[in-house]
Amino acid sequence: MAKEHIFTGNFLWGVATSAFQLEGSPYADWASWDFHLSENPDVTNHYIRYKEDLALLKELGVNAYRFSLEWSRIQPRENVWDDRAISHYQEIIDILVSNNIEPMVTLHHFTHPLWFIKNFPWHEDSSIDIFSRYVEKIVSKIQGVRYWITFNEPYVLLLGGYLEGCMPPGIRDASLAVKALRNILTCHSKAYEMIHTKNPQAMVSVAHNMAALAPWKRWNPLDRVVSKIAKYFYNHSLLDAFLTGRLAIKFPFKKTLEIAVPIKGKLDFFGVNYYTRIHVRFNPFKKMSVELRHRDIDGYGLTDMGWEIHPYGLEKVLRYALKLNVPLIITENGIATRDAQKKIKFMKRHIDAIEKCLKNGIDVKGYFYWSLIDNYEWLQGLDARFGLYKVDFTTLQRNPTNAAAYYSYLIRSRS
Ligand code: FCB
Repeated sequence: MAKEHIFTGNFLWGVATSAFQLEGSPYADWASWDFHLSENPDVTNHYIRYKEDLALLKELGVNAYRFSLEWSRIQPRENVWDDRAISHYQEIIDILVSNNIEPMVTLHHFTHPLWFIKNFPWHEDSSIDIFSRYVEKIVSKIQGVRYWITFNEPYVLLLGGYLEGCMPPGIRDASLAVKALRNILTCHSKAYEMIHTKNPQAMVSVAHNMAALAPWKRWNPLDRVVSKIAKYFYNHSLLDAFLTGRLAIKFPFKKTLEIAVPIKGKLDFFGVNYYTRIHVRFNPFKKMSVELRHRDIDGYGLTDMGWEIHPYGLEKVLRYALKLNVPLIITENGIATRDAQKKIKFMKRHIDAIEKCLKNGIDVKGYFYWSLIDNYEWLQGLDARFGLYKVDFTTLQRNPTNAAAYYSYLIRSRS
């Protein structure tokens, strides 16, 4: 019987997580940044219960798993390496490989060792050497990984850590943000080279947060101007930098700033994190005259975090990424809700959108649902429930939601 779907047998069906959000770390900058963590510093205690959680991957039937290494556990102090932490992550990889689950490893997912962010923050050029030493260590020790993400959402890190100041290092300074961005991208480039020297077949990318962006009021020319600028910055400027080695930062009604970044062509696939659409409005009283908000335009509702559910935007942002001419992988997509039916609908609509993309010739190679189990959601703490499995944060019991069974069914019916 002819198959009725268009997904190939080697499509990566995965789930995505990050170390700190599952396991915390006493040595990480976020541990002392957010006082909510003082009650649940180990979050889901995944560092201890990892085998139980990895078994859930088998139960789901995924063939890929994206997770991150917690740098602060590996290098708790500047000159101290914890080999047991490296072995721990190696064991996770070995378990995955022995179960035919493709590991995708993120080197940096928002958190840093506290000593690093205090003494060598990203806007200091010394950060490049320090991060590169960490990558060198990982590349020399870790075996069996083909897919790597160097940085998760470098722009979110910058907006949070250097413009809004709501994430460590808690700075609000655009010129330091530009320096930090240049250093982070230089680190991407060095990591790309190191990984390829060891394994020429490696597939290396960043995970770029992309959003559908629209003017708040379409008829308002000022809203259209700022929305266009925001769209260029947020979605396109990094892509163009991978194509040209130059990063252009445009500001409303100001001169464009252009910086050289050594990342031209340093990409084997492109990781897209897609969640929502954002409406943009001109407001002279806001920073850079830009105000953002979510609105339920499609009628699919907002998530528990107030984000608009907008599956159509996924095709849009994937189309932007086509110019990179590399395979595309959705490295994150998910919804914060306690309502399993809403989670199922969200997932179905986004996977249908991917199916449509494949039919239209867009080379999507994988989809990673965020997330496996409920976890620590940065600014929202433990309230945002993204998990296919829910976690009772008192007993730390994991229990499947109906969305877990639904994801298994989707994978089976499309593999
Ligand atoms: C993404 C982050 C991830 C998680 C989801 C909900 O932006 O990469 O860590 O917080 O949002």
